[in-house]
Amino acid sequence: MATRTLVVACALFLGLCIITNGKPTEVTHAYCKIVWLLAVPCDQVNMAIVTQIKAMGSYKLGSATPSLIQANHTSAVGQIENVNFTMNGTSMGLGCHVEGSSISAFWYSLFDNGTNYCNLRNVIQGSGLSKAPGFVEFTNEWLCLGYGLSACK
Ligand SMILES: *[C@@H]1O[C@H](CO)[C@@H](O)[C@H](O)[C@H]1NC(C)=O
Ligand SMILES: *[C@@H]1O[C@H](CO)[C@@H](O)[C@H](O)[C@H]1NC(C)=O
Ligand SMILES: *[C@@H]1O[C@H](CO)[C@@H](O)[C@H](O)[C@H]1NC(C)=O
Ligand SMILES: *[C@@H]1O[C@H](CO)[C@@H](O)[C@H](O)[C@H]1NC(C)=O
Repeated sequence: MATRTLVVACALFLGLCIITNGKPTEVTHAYCKIVWLLAVPCDQVNMAIVTQIKAMGSYKLGSATPSLIQANHTSAVGQIENVNFTMNGTSMGLGCHVEGSSISAFWYSLFDNGTNYCNLRNVIQGSGLSKAPGFVEFTNEWLCLGYGLSACK
């Protein structure tokens, strides 16, 4: 158990190093970061994500602009995670680059079975965007805690 804790802590630390260019600020929060590429214009992606978040009872939509959608997710155990979707058009003009991030407020979510991954994945899947043309998902265990373990419901 001690070894496992250390491995996960290191993965978290390294992931934060990548995200913040070696200046980790928040080492006590579990998080997940995912990048998606789609061959769909960002305004359509934005609309699909907002519609899906509104349709899901466990999410509370915050501010939504063409480039940033903010929401909170309340998980079954009553814990709140902060969720963002950032959109940016690709250089080709037709596609959309979307970055999703989810952060748990508390350190004890470190062993959260991929809660933060599922917070993001469930929105993209529920909205049908994961079946959209050109859909690709990029992440790994360093950027997304619990990614390898998660079984989203
Ligand atoms: C999300 O949670 C944060 C921290 O608890 C809170 O400050 C913010 O107002 C919440 N946003 C929404 C849309 O509920
Ligand atoms: C969007 O893309 C432009 C051009 O590649 C870049 O300058 C800008 O920083 C990006 N914005 C975000 C929010 O990633
Ligand atoms: C979402 O974006 C807001 C504003 O840029 C930022 O304060 C917050 O930390 C972000 N949350 C996540 C989960 O990335
Ligand atoms: C994670 O999954 C295990 C096994 O299914 C379960 O016992 C545990 O309660 C889960 N933890 C959370 C935070 O959901």
